[in-house]
Amino acid sequence: MFPDLLRDDIFRLETKRLWLRWPRIADAAAIVRLAGDKDVAQMTARIPHPYPQAAADRWIFESRVGNAQGSAVVLALTLKDRPSELIGVIGVHQTRAGRALLGYWLGKPFWGQGLMTEATQALVDLAFRASEVEKIETHAMVDNPRSCGVLLNAGFVVEGEKPVDMAERGGVFVCRYFGLDRETWQARQTAPLAAGDMRLAC
Ligand SMILES: CC(C)(COP(=O)(O)OP(=O)(O)OC[C@H]1O[C@@H](n2cnc3c(N)ncnc32)[C@H](O)[C@@H]1OP(=O)(O)O)[C@@H](O)C(=O)NCCC(=O)NCCS
Repeated sequence: MFPDLLRDDIFRLETKRLWLRWPRIADAAAIVRLAGDKDVAQMTARIPHPYPQAAADRWIFESRVGNAQGSAVVLALTLKDRPSELIGVIGVHQTRAGRALLGYWLGKPFWGQGLMTEATQALVDLAFRASEVEKIETHAMVDNPRSCGVLLNAGFVVEGEKPVDMAERGGVFVCRYFGLDRETWQARQTAPLAAGDMRLAC
C-alpha cells in the first residue's frame, strides 16, 4: 500500500518541531520507560502494563517489518534538537484495500504542547499524498479527551460510539470511532475556515 520511498529506514518526515523516523532497537529503553507509564498504557488497547523489555524489542522488529513491506508506516517521534531520543510513536496500518488504521502514544512529559496534533497532521497528509489510501480510521476511549482532541484537530469526523472489549485493559470500554476520508481531507487542504466553523467538543 505504501510506496518504496517510505520503505527504507533512511525515510524521515519533518514537522515544525519534530523529526519522525523509523523506530530502531536503540529506542527500546525509551519505549519501556515512556509506554511503561500507566497513564499512557491505560488509554490504549494494546500496550501492556507493566511493560516488559521483550515487548519493546518485538514491537520495534514488527514495526520495521511492516514499514519495509509497505503495509504500515510506523514512526518514532523525536524533538528536532534530540533526534536520537524517542518521545512517542505514531503509525498507520493497512487494514484492507484503501483503508488504514491510525494509532499513537506520546510520553507523558511531552503532553499538552500540540506535538501529537503536529505529528498526526503530518502523517495523515503523507498517507493521503503518498499512497492510494481512501480512508483513515481510528477509535479512542470516550474518557480520553486528549486523543479525541488530536483527532478533531487533524480533521477526523466522529462516526459513532460502541463498547470495545480490551483484553490488555481487562474490560470493556466505550470508544468513539473516527474517520477521515480522502475527500474530506482534500477539502481541508483548500478551504479557508468559515466564520462560524467550530470544532466539535469531544
Ligand atoms: C493522546 C496523546 C497522544 C495526546 O498528545 P498531546 O501531544 O498531548 O496532544 P495535543 O497537545 O496535540 O492535543 C491534545 C488536544 O486535546 C485537548 N485536551 C488536552 N487535555 C484535555 C482535557 N483534559 N480535556 C479536553 N481536551 C483536552 C487539548 O486542548 C488539545 O486540543 P487543542 O490543540 O485544540 O487545544 C497523549 O495524551 C497520549 O499519549 N496519551 C496516552 C496514550 C493515548 O491516549 N493514545 C491514543 C489512544 S486512542
